Amino acid sequence: MRTHLPSRKVIAVLTAALLATGVAACGNSDTGGSGSGDDGKITLGFSQVGAESGWRTANTTSIKEAATGAGIDLKFDDAQQKQENQIKAIRNFIQQKVDVIAFSPVVESGWDTVLKEAKDAKIPVILTDRSVDSADTSLYKTFLGSDFVKEGRLAGEWLVEQKKAAAGPVNIVELQGTTGSAPANDRKKGFGEAIAANPNLKIIASQSGDFTRAGGKQVMEQFLKANPKIDVLFAHNDDMGLGALEAITAAGKVPGKDITIITVDAVKDGMQALADGKFNFIAECSPLLGPQLMDLVKKVHNGEAVPARIETQETTFTQEQAKEALPNRKY
Ligand code: AHR
Repeated sequence: MRTHLPSRKVIAVLTAALLATGVAACGNSDTGGSGSGDDGKITLGFSQVGAESGWRTANTTSIKEAATGAGIDLKFDDAQQKQENQIKAIRNFIQQKVDVIAFSPVVESGWDTVLKEAKDAKIPVILTDRSVDSADTSLYKTFLGSDFVKEGRLAGEWLVEQKKAAAGPVNIVELQGTTGSAPANDRKKGFGEAIAANPNLKIIASQSGDFTRAGGKQVMEQFLKANPKIDVLFAHNDDMGLGALEAITAAGKVPGKDITIITVDAVKDGMQALADGKFNFIAECSPLLGPQLMDLVKKVHNGEAVPARIETQETTFTQEQAKEALPNRKY
C-alpha cells in the first residue's frame, strides 16, 4: 500500500521553504514530487476518451462536478478518441507530479509502458469506465466501471425471450463500438453468448460505428443496402442506434417495428427513442462515476486500501419502463 503521502506533503513544504530562502532544493526522485497543489488540494490528472457520445458528455460532467464538490484540483484532458493522446496526457500528468492519475482507456491494449512510468513515479492510477488488458494488475490501484459483458448478455437474453417462438432465421446486424475498446469487445461477447441459446438467432453483419451517431448512420446504411432482410439491430450504444434510426427511416422501414432495436447506455435521447417505440430495449450503462471516483482518489492518496474492482450498479429498460423513468432522467 502506498504510504508516501505525508512525506510528499512534508517535502512540498520543505521545498517551498528552501526555495523561499534562496537555497536550491535537491529533488528526491523516489517521492514522485510534491503532488498536492500549493493550496493543499489533491491534484487529479484525468484523461478522458473524448466526446463521442451522450454517455461520454454525461460522464465528463459527472467527473468535473464531483471534483469541484470534493475540493479536488482536476487537470482534465480530452484525448479525442486517440490512444496516443491519452499516453501523452498521462506523461504530462507524471511530469506535473499530480497526486493521482485516472483515465478511461480508449482501447484495452498497449498501456504497460506508460503505466509502469506512473508506478515508477509513485503516482497511483485509477481506471474508470473502461479497463486495460495488462497482465500486471499492480500497475493500477482499482477499476471502477460497468460489467460490459453483462450488459451484452442482458441485451441478448431479452432478444432470446422475444424471439422464442420464431420458426425461421432471425437476422441480426450489430453496430460495434470503437474497435479494440473494452465495451465493444465485452458487449459483443456477452450478446453472442446469450443468443447462442437459440440457433435461429444469427448475426449476419457486424461492424464498428465508433460509438458515434454519424458512424451508426453510415454503417447502418451499408447494412441495409447489403442485406434485404434485417430483423434486429444490436447497437453497442444509444448514439449509434440513434444514427441508425435515420438510415432505417430513410430506407422506408419503421424502426422498432420492422426492425427490433436493442442498444446500451440509456441516456436521455435513447430513453426518448425507447419511450416513443423506436427502440425496443436498452441495457443501462451508467456514466455517473464522478462521486465514486473522487472518493477513491482521496482513499488512494491517503494510502487507504480500496477494492481491486468496483462494479457500477445498473438495470435494463423496456418501452414501458422508459416512459416511467424518462421524466426523472438526469442525463
Ligand atoms: O465506455 C462506455 C461507452 O463509451 C458507452 O457505452 C458509450 O456510449 C461510450 O462512448
